[in-house]
Amino acid sequence: MEDKLNQLKTILNEVADLNAASALLGWDQQTYMPAGSAEGRGNQLATLGQIAHIKFTSDEVGRLLEDLEPQVAQLDPDSDAARLVKVTRREYDKNTKVPTEWVAEFARVTTVGQQVWQEARIENNFARFQPYLEKIIDLRRQYAAIFAPYDHVYDPLLDDFEPGMKTAEVKEIFGKLRPQQVELIKAIADRPQVDDSFLRQTFAEQKQWDFGVEVITKMGYDWQHGRQDRSAHPFTTNFGIDDVRITTKFLPDFVSSAIFSTVHETGHALYEQGVDHALERTPLAGGASLGMHESQSRLWENLVGRSYPFWQHFYPRLQEFFPGQLGNVSLDAFYKGINKVQPSLIRIEADEATYNLHIMLRLELEIALIEGSLQVKDLPQAWNSRMQEYLGVTPTNDKNGVLQDIHWSGGMVGYFSTYALGNLISAQLWERINQDIPDLPDQIRKGEFSALLGWLRNNIHRHGAKYESQELVKRITGSKIDPAPYMRYLTDKFSKVYGF
Ligand code: CO
Repeated sequence: MEDKLNQLKTILNEVADLNAASALLGWDQQTYMPAGSAEGRGNQLATLGQIAHIKFTSDEVGRLLEDLEPQVAQLDPDSDAARLVKVTRREYDKNTKVPTEWVAEFARVTTVGQQVWQEARIENNFARFQPYLEKIIDLRRQYAAIFAPYDHVYDPLLDDFEPGMKTAEVKEIFGKLRPQQVELIKAIADRPQVDDSFLRQTFAEQKQWDFGVEVITKMGYDWQHGRQDRSAHPFTTNFGIDDVRITTKFLPDFVSSAIFSTVHETGHALYEQGVDHALERTPLAGGASLGMHESQSRLWENLVGRSYPFWQHFYPRLQEFFPGQLGNVSLDAFYKGINKVQPSLIRIEADEATYNLHIMLRLELEIALIEGSLQVKDLPQAWNSRMQEYLGVTPTNDKNGVLQDIHWSGGMVGYFSTYALGNLISAQLWERINQDIPDLPDQIRKGEFSALLGWLRNNIHRHGAKYESQELVKRITGSKIDPAPYMRYLTDKFSKVYGF
């Protein structure tokens, strides 16, 4: 068996190297590449992607998997070898079952679709994008059919982003969550609004950068195996476990943007830096799923970074950087300001309390589109009425309504729920962490994060992609993904911030 396993690993290592090279080119594209170099870069990425695809989907990989499957069945199912074969099989089937014609058509439609979406958004004209979205929905339905039988037609789509997750599961989770979130927002809306105007003054970019570096260094970001740069949209990427990079966008007139996005991306980066080196250059070297990844970024950003103890430690330092802007703003006022809740039209600007409702709306509409119970032409109307129902605000146009996100134009139908699942998982983990580390708030107050990071490393990071998210959450907390801890967290926090 060792022999075959090594043969498989050799191919997977080469595929991982090719993918890492692509990721590095992608990182460069978004950070330092000259504006006029996009065409050549596109060719390079396409070539590398094609070589990686051919290697990974080769008959040899298929034969090795078939030979290895009965053999690893004798092993501990949690062993690296058994999990590697299982995850590789899943990816292999996904990559080989889909006909090349579908892949080509999907690439063509989404490339044009994304272009048209950008124009339609500027023109505020959904009708222009409508035929492309119809085609994309149709192609995603065809994709689901390739993986029949399924319990629900949306299952294969969800599985692309959250492996193993079923539509029935997300429906149940969000069905419980939605009424409670709506009620919480109503309770907040009945209270006087908090002031956050002091966050919207002029804050020198270099000082923002320096403060962020101090924060994430204390969190445990490993600068020997990472770096930080600027980009138009913040992201984390990696080219192996030992090179995990983050980017930041700085807004001179809104200081909290860069602080929290830097902490967020560092949460993603700590996950990637913490994967066991035994899994390096294999499909297991990375996060378990998008939802699991988002649980790590949100945990650091919100549960830690927007907590009172965190700012008991860091606020005096931030005031030293910005004495003119924050010298006369008390810690309590600052804490309330960074936790302001304001139902709004735009998902990416949403606060902790309202964010999940933006996601649930998208998930419900996506499922209805894929099921065929909602027609694309009726989408803007369905969007607007749900915004009113869940958040109490109605888009004034399609630009700040149905056309705001890039995902659908790029064919990423099935993606959205992972954002909300990440929030839920983060709070569920947080309850467990606080049982295991009872003095965690005191540690955070002192700027000590090593016990917390150690816990995350041991329970989550080191496993890489060995376990699916539901499996991992259950191993750690004893139950599957559950919205109750998140609601407890939100209610406890915002009843104090808003006084109800
Ligand atoms: Co994220």
